[in-house]
Amino acid sequence: MKKVQFEIEHIDPLGQGVSKKGDKVTFIPKTLPGETGVATIVRSRKGVQFAELTQLDSASAKRIEAECPHYDQCNGCHFLHTSYPYELELKQKNLEFLFKNWQYGELHSHPGPTRMGYRNRIQLHFNKARKQFGFMLTGGKEILAVPDCLLPAPQLKAAIKQYTGQDHWLDSLPDPVGHVEFYQKDQEILISCNKPYAEGGFSQVNPAMNQLLAGLLQNLAHTLNPGAKILDLFGGVGNLSSNFQKQERLIVDYYPGTAPKETSGGQFLKLDLYRPEALNELTSRGIGHFDCLIVDPPRSGFKQLGDFLKEFSPELLIYVSCNPATLKRDLDQIKNDYQLSNLHLLDFFPGTFHFETLAILKKL
Ligand SMILES: C[S@@+](CC[C@H](N)C(=O)[O-])C[C@H]1O[C@@H](n2cnc3c(N)ncnc32)[C@H](O)[C@@H]1O
Repeated sequence: MKKVQFEIEHIDPLGQGVSKKGDKVTFIPKTLPGETGVATIVRSRKGVQFAELTQLDSASAKRIEAECPHYDQCNGCHFLHTSYPYELELKQKNLEFLFKNWQYGELHSHPGPTRMGYRNRIQLHFNKARKQFGFMLTGGKEILAVPDCLLPAPQLKAAIKQYTGQDHWLDSLPDPVGHVEFYQKDQEILISCNKPYAEGGFSQVNPAMNQLLAGLLQNLAHTLNPGAKILDLFGGVGNLSSNFQKQERLIVDYYPGTAPKETSGGQFLKLDLYRPEALNELTSRGIGHFDCLIVDPPRSGFKQLGDFLKEFSPELLIYVSCNPATLKRDLDQIKNDYQLSNLHLLDFFPGTFHFETLAILKKL
């Protein structure tokens, strides 16, 4: 396989080091700015190369020994070769760069209270014939056993250990290949096999950070009149709008199964928000104006945001996003009508390149 010399200029939003030599750009995970060495190309297309770190000639002073024994082989985490403060700094830089053409004052950055052991939900893959169980590696063909993964919360980790410690547990799974999801609901640990992600209802995977987000939303709730109308799109069971207890709430979500029994108060509407008719379906119910729109879509974002804002003209827009690129794309289309008053980075996923962004916008 072809090898290349690299020199890392910066870290991209997927946590990869970016090296530019001649007309070639190379992306190398688990490197840091300023580092040089040799990488092995694993894939290339249109002048862009994807490579694996093979040899470090000059290591960054910010490099540390990863605390996870699986880190070198695993692609679940992206920043364990550096400290948590530096990881956060790199994430902040990427978010600031993305929003460089927006005015919002200072970025508010909220670190996770613990770097590891925060996940209350985890999906692991299996292949019975090969007797494999663990994380799916990039490429989707190989499964890496990760018995000492540091991401699951202690109670979840203990349950996984107990379950996979039973005789013939792998043979007892209903299918030859697939995934098992372990998740904590209230104080119980539940297990599902080959079901869609979070099929029992979406819940945030990092409860401590969800609590922090709740606090920020409660502060916003105080700025609204009691009885103000809130539209909570991609609302799940109303996790975000439940912080607006004095206001009137309509929660819209499209569950893979049935509508949730418990929506933490508020009215619930099951609707596929990506269908072109979704907005018409809402307005045909006589829904006219909302004071506040909350949007928390999947990673693909919400391209129809502009149409919804034109229709409901809320004074306040609260956009929570797990993908800053689609957040920026969606907000760029409403730049002339809404002002970004606050931008928050909430690190729900320490160790990885993922984080949540809370954007608060006011109507101009
Ligand atoms: C990032 S989650 C946010 C959930 C909720 N706001 C919370 O904090 O728990 C995204 C939500 O979008 C919902 N969803 C996915 N596709 C959808 C669609 N086409 N129409 C409406 N909701 C959808 C999912 O069911 C999920 O509840």
